[in-house]
Amino acid sequence: MKVRKAVIPAAGLGTRMLPATKTVPKEMLPMVDKPVIQYIIEEAVAAGIEDILIVTNRAKSAMDDYFDYYPELETRLVQAGKDHELTEVRRAADLANIFYVRQKETKGLGHAIWRAKRFVGDEPFAVLLGDDVMRSKEPVVGQLIQAAEKYDASAVGVQQVSLEAISKYCSLKVEPLEDRVFLATDMVEKPRPEQVFSNYAILGRYVLKSGIFDILEHLEPGFGGEIQLTDGLRRLCQKEKMVAVDFEGRRYDTGNLRGFMEASIDFALDHPETGTWLRQFIKDKAGQL
Ligand code: G1P
Repeated sequence: MKVRKAVIPAAGLGTRMLPATKTVPKEMLPMVDKPVIQYIIEEAVAAGIEDILIVTNRAKSAMDDYFDYYPELETRLVQAGKDHELTEVRRAADLANIFYVRQKETKGLGHAIWRAKRFVGDEPFAVLLGDDVMRSKEPVVGQLIQAAEKYDASAVGVQQVSLEAISKYCSLKVEPLEDRVFLATDMVEKPRPEQVFSNYAILGRYVLKSGIFDILEHLEPGFGGEIQLTDGLRRLCQKEKMVAVDFEGRRYDTGNLRGFMEASIDFALDHPETGTWLRQFIKDKAGQL
């Protein structure tokens, strides 16, 4: 089983980050010196993914422009001797083979993934949610691919969240298989307290077998009146093997202000141009608070 393709659903309206996202797609907001979506694409590429489909909507064309060449700008950078900037601008455009499809209707995450059916065909594929940025030693989606290959199964990336927070996610029923890997046997989206299976929640990363598409095609709307990916995964894990990987790494929800700022600060601390300066700036600030 070889995972070569990834799907990034990025068709949300960004209502948790207004007014910044009124005209700029939330995936294009800069974190340090790159837009959010580039971190996600770089994670996929680091895990060996070659072809990436981004599921967009009519307000997201800045994304396709970003991953394209820009001859006028590049000529200007050559003339100005700005080699580093030129390399970075080109690198973004050459990261992967990027394809786009529009969701057309806002009918939920399950519907967005179903739009990838033609692109994926019969292969296993990765899903990386466009808001969930990871900071880890090994690419998180790569950790899932390894488990999916080992067990010849679909795989979902999980971590434990507090019982107060689980209602924002999905809750999984799991049985231990080995260190950090479980068998997933059931799940529920946005559970009420009496529905919680465990405090293991899926956090933005999946490796799925193509059987998910037939399931999504016939799925009734679930929580919030939307076609929920979790409802599709629930059926998939009852038909075929699915493992849950308690991945190593930190996940940030960059679709909300606090998550976005936490990620921005942590990535700026890691960055060679800003790390030392920011560390000192924070220490000085802390002294004044
Ligand atoms: C989505 C999924 C949910 C998952 C969460 C975090 O929810 O539906 O199962 O736990 O992402 O990755 P959303 O954040 O879109 O409400």
